[in-house]
Amino acid sequence: MKQVAEHNTPDDCWIVIGEKVYEIPEAWTKKHPGGHLPLKAMAGKDATDAFVQYHPNEVYKMIPNFYIANVVAKDTKESIFVKEHRAIR
Ligand code: HEM
Repeated sequence: MKQVAEHNTPDDCWIVIGEKVYEIPEAWTKKHPGGHLPLKAMAGKDATDAFVQYHPNEVYKMIPNFYIANVVAKDTKESIFVKEHRAIR
C-alpha cells in the first residue's frame, strides 16, 4: 500500500480494489461514466468500498483491463464501521 500511495495523481493513478492494484490512465479518467473526480479522489488509495457502492456487476468485467499487480500488504486497519458495512453488503 505504501507503493500504491505514491501513485496518487491524475497522470499517475493507481487504485486498489479488493486485493488487486489497478492503473487508471489519465485519458480513461475522462471517459469514466462517474467522471474524473471520484478517480482523482481515490488515486493512491484503497477504493474497494466506494467501488462496490457505485458499480453494477457488469463493471467487474471491465476492471481486469486495468490490473497491474496484487497488494502485498494491506496496512490499513479495518474500522468497526467498515467491518460491519462489509459484513452486510
Ligand atoms: C477501473 C476502475 C473503474 C471502472 C472500470 C469504472 C467504471 C464505471 C462504469 C462503467 C460506470 C457506469 C455504471 C452504470 O452504468 O451505472 C461507473 C460509474 C461510477 N463510478 Fe466508476 N469505475 C471505476 C472506478 C471507480 C472508482 C475508484 C470510483 C470511486 C468512488 C468510481 C465512482 C463511480 C461513480 C460515483 C459512478 C456514478 C454512479 C452513478 O451515477 O450511479 N468509479 N464507473
